[in-house]
Amino acid sequence: MADPIQPVFLATAIQAVIKAGAMQLAGIDNLRVEKKGAIDLVTQVDREVEEMFRALIADRFPDHDVLAEEFEASGDREHQAEYCWVFDPVDGTTNYAHGLPIFCCACSLERHGQPIVAAIYDPNRRELFTAERGRGAWLNGAPMRVSTGAGTLIDSLLCTGFHYDVHKEGEYVLGLFGDFIKTSRAVRRLGSAAIDLAYVAAGRFDGFWEVRLNPWDISAGALLIEEAGGQVSLLTGEPFDSRRGEIVASNGRIHGPMLDVIRSRKRTA
Ligand code: IPD
Ligand code: CA
Ligand code: CA
Repeated sequence: MADPIQPVFLATAIQAVIKAGAMQLAGIDNLRVEKKGAIDLVTQVDREVEEMFRALIADRFPDHDVLAEEFEASGDREHQAEYCWVFDPVDGTTNYAHGLPIFCCACSLERHGQPIVAAIYDPNRRELFTAERGRGAWLNGAPMRVSTGAGTLIDSLLCTGFHYDVHKEGEYVLGLFGDFIKTSRAVRRLGSAAIDLAYVAAGRFDGFWEVRLNPWDISAGALLIEEAGGQVSLLTGEPFDSRRGEIVASNGRIHGPMLDVIRSRKRTA
């Protein structure tokens, strides 16, 4: 049987995220910012990058599905084709629209719903995070591992993010944020879930959690972390599934302690 992870898959993911990074930097001084919701923004660059990606996949892999943020169609989230590309043209659009240089492009290829190839590119720091299932994870081509120092929450640097409905129903999310502020060394909020997860994979953060995300925010980062020796799950501790839109991610050593904190708070939304 042919290898289900062909080299052209990672090469395509890398080509797409590097091209996306060039488009993001080229567009930053001329952005047209629109509102998708009260605090949820989109720019013409988000759409143009996604169009570039959809054209690339249609040309190279016409029988593959694409699940991406800006032109998602109903039914896209079902697992239909064997292979599905999961793509966020700009992750960190709020930062991007404000000129804050913390944003990236995230791309994964899922086979039967499992990420098998991942690439995240941060054009500001020129950092390319990649992984292939069963073969490893790399930062700019060098092997990448999760942190090994932090074995307790009080020695851990954590990160989280807030979904766009947090104004309306933030009680649970902000409660959990407080719980981790009280039990860890510190909690950061960078504004790009894909970069947050890449940083767990690179050992810069020891753990991350967030709810009410979309598959394109977390699919690539989850594979980076698993291949860098870390652990990912749902907030219940069940196996990670990008379609469920939530994640607890860690260096493995603090995964149990993170889940203990999460389980101590009643989930309200
Ligand atoms: C958002 C970012 C943010 C996270 C939000 C996401 P976008 O993605 O990843 O960090 O907290 O939940 O929706 O809208 O910038 O692609
Ligand atoms: Ca996103
Ligand atoms: Ca986005």
